[in-house]
Amino acid sequence: MLEVRNLTVKFAGLTAVDDLSFTVNQGEVFTLMGPNGAGKTTAFNAIGGFVRPTAGHVALRGQSMAGMSPAQVAALGIRRTFQNNGILREMSVLENVLTGLELSTRSSFWGCALGAPGSARAERDATRRAREMLGQMDIAGLADRPAGDLSFGQQRLVEIARAMVAGAELIMLDEPAVGLSPGERLHLGQVLRELTAKGMTVLLVEHVQDLVMAVSDQILVLNYGKKIAQCPPSEVRNNKDVLEVYLGHA
Ligand SMILES: Nc1ncnc2c1ncn2[C@@H]1O[C@H](COP(=O)(O)OP(=O)(O)O)[C@@H](O)[C@H]1O
Ligand SMILES: [Mg+2]
Repeated sequence: MLEVRNLTVKFAGLTAVDDLSFTVNQGEVFTLMGPNGAGKTTAFNAIGGFVRPTAGHVALRGQSMAGMSPAQVAALGIRRTFQNNGILREMSVLENVLTGLELSTRSSFWGCALGAPGSARAERDATRRAREMLGQMDIAGLADRPAGDLSFGQQRLVEIARAMVAGAELIMLDEPAVGLSPGERLHLGQVLRELTAKGMTVLLVEHVQDLVMAVSDQILVLNYGKKIAQCPPSEVRNNKDVLEVYLGHA
């Protein structure tokens, strides 16, 4: 579904992502793991159109995404969350999810504000869809609460709902387990598996091990921008190169 080929991103003298290649299949959780500064977020930024690659390319279902803006990538169905959560604390949970539709429904939003009847329906549809996403996250009951009142774990689910509401096919989650309790991590893992069971594809950046081990189909380990291993979770603990990066010895 997503193909990353020879992706390289350089910042001045630093090579943040170095000749990285991998393929993500539909319906899987594909995880990028690696120490701080390994290039995980930069790889996400390059895939999402936020950073221009120095070399290499990314394609979705065979269609090259070269030169696309973040909005164009989003329109293709690739949505992301950010490492520092972008929850709007004063807004309701439902309104937060609706901001995920901004790119696709801005004109109908204004139409609605001006009282056009067709657009009122568009807004009802959007609201129904946003509630449906919250239902998939098991937090439909929180829709009308201020988002700032929610726990970190619940806010993370709101972010995912926001990423999906416009009809994403692939969601990229950057360290979604940071700050979550063990119970919340477990729930997040279950939610991600339910989404992939329905055909959603998840590209995850994470180093919280229990979550990574529980949800990933494939784990790619990055170090200094380079791929040092790619394998299913069952093999990652025994991979010598991975142990060397994480423990400093093989
Ligand atoms: N916009 C930028 N300008 C310069 N250097 C950057 C920029 N973004 C990231 N870097 C550097 O690129 C490397 C990889 O960073 P990052 O992708 O954030 O790593 P990770 O997400 O794996 O922790 C780091 O050395 C970081 O300092
Ligand atoms: Mg990062």
